[in-house]
Amino acid sequence: MEAPATETAKLAFAGKTLELPVIAGTEQEKAIDIAALRDKTGAVTLDLGFGNTASCLSAITFLDGERGVLRYRGFPIEQLAEYATYSETAYLLIYGNLPVKRELEQFTSRLADRSGLPEGMEDFFDHLPKGIHPMAVLFSAVAALSGYYPELTHPNPTREEIDSIILTLLAQIPTIAAYSYRKGNGLPVIPPRRDLSPTTANFLHMMFGPAGADGKPDEVVVSALRKILILHADHEQNCSTSTVRLVGSSRANAFVSISSGIGALWGPLHGGANQAVIEMLEKIHKDGGNFSKYVALAKDKTSGFRLMGFGHRVYKNFDPRSRILKSSCDQVLERLGVRDPLLDLAKRLEEAALKDDYFVSRKLYPNVDFYSGIILRAIGIPTDQFTVIFALGRLAGWLAHWREMLESPGFRIGRPRQIYTGSTERRFVPLAQRG
Ligand code: SDX
Repeated sequence: MEAPATETAKLAFAGKTLELPVIAGTEQEKAIDIAALRDKTGAVTLDLGFGNTASCLSAITFLDGERGVLRYRGFPIEQLAEYATYSETAYLLIYGNLPVKRELEQFTSRLADRSGLPEGMEDFFDHLPKGIHPMAVLFSAVAALSGYYPELTHPNPTREEIDSIILTLLAQIPTIAAYSYRKGNGLPVIPPRRDLSPTTANFLHMMFGPAGADGKPDEVVVSALRKILILHADHEQNCSTSTVRLVGSSRANAFVSISSGIGALWGPLHGGANQAVIEMLEKIHKDGGNFSKYVALAKDKTSGFRLMGFGHRVYKNFDPRSRILKSSCDQVLERLGVRDPLLDLAKRLEEAALKDDYFVSRKLYPNVDFYSGIILRAIGIPTDQFTVIFALGRLAGWLAHWREMLESPGFRIGRPRQIYTGSTERRFVPLAQRG
């Protein structure tokens, strides 16, 4: 994976002029390569929150925040959400191309072979604090899973071992999520079934048991979950994916690298926003639906209140996923015969915000989390499981980036610099003299 230097950037600093190479990606994004900067100038760059810093070269996902474009390995998200299965999408993200029939059958069969938890893992869920959040369970269970696969935890896995790690995590994390839900609610676990699609129908079966007359989950519900998982499958170097890469860059094993991504995703500014959106909408609904009051609160810096599900570091026009989910809300709720007052409220809140200069001037639009919770509620997912569903979708992206990093020629441990602003040198004062 290369990005050729196409031109140079001149930097005049400390009486010198430095020529730095400028590289271009396949979508003509430009980056100034500052690898030689500190050696040549003694200075580093400062970029709080990494808003202007590329951490890697990647061929997995392209997004254009200004044009609202999102493509997985070149395929527009709109097409994948409409036509692909989650397994196809996961295979595409991880291996680079859509699988042919034989490849997909082999991939899904291998996932089915591995979807049961290892002997003894089920007891893990019986020794957790009561009421523990499902993301805390997922975070710890995925790290603990490494104890059952010591042969997959050494720092230099072969390509076969990488494939085995990917299949194990893709197959078992949905089972962990479902078992956590069942055990956390005092329900007997429901083992996975081989005859259901691995991460969608099989997950719903393990969560809620046999549904329709044929004992399979409702097709409308399966399709809604499929679309949600695909829309959440990857998003280039977001907070949690960057975390997976940074932890993996120390050659920590994939189990703890993915577990670290789960931890980062839980934050309400990131994947935890989908739960926070519903909690916000419920609060507004209980408060008589007075959304104008909350729009005003969101604009008041002293309130500490944010319009959850609004704003994005990259999308400054619209989040294409939010558009797909908004129209999906109407379809899914209608086909399930569900009326949710929070959907009407969400639409009115969006309309009010998009007419308000505070949001328009800051380019704050609904993001992927604004409508996803409405659909998850409609298909019966409990609110505290919303971010777990986000993690089930994002798992394919995390694994794709972990594999790409391990195989990239420039692979080295991630170690950012800093600018020190603390005390300059001072001498130790014995306690007796400190007063
Ligand atoms: C995800 O990176 C990804 O790709 C993430 C993601 C993925 O798929 O992985 O897309 C998933 O995490 C989506 C985002 C989910 N989070 C939320 O919905 C939480 C609410 N939104 C924010 O807190 C915020 O918008 C972020 C975290 C999403 C982005 O934060 P930034 O880029 O650091 O922007 P900022 O906090 O610097 O805000 C810029 C301005 C500030 O006002 P000023 O200082 O300029 O006056 O916009 C304001 C902020 O106060 N602002 C908001 C706001 N979001 C930003 N004001 C009110 N409500 C909001 N939601």
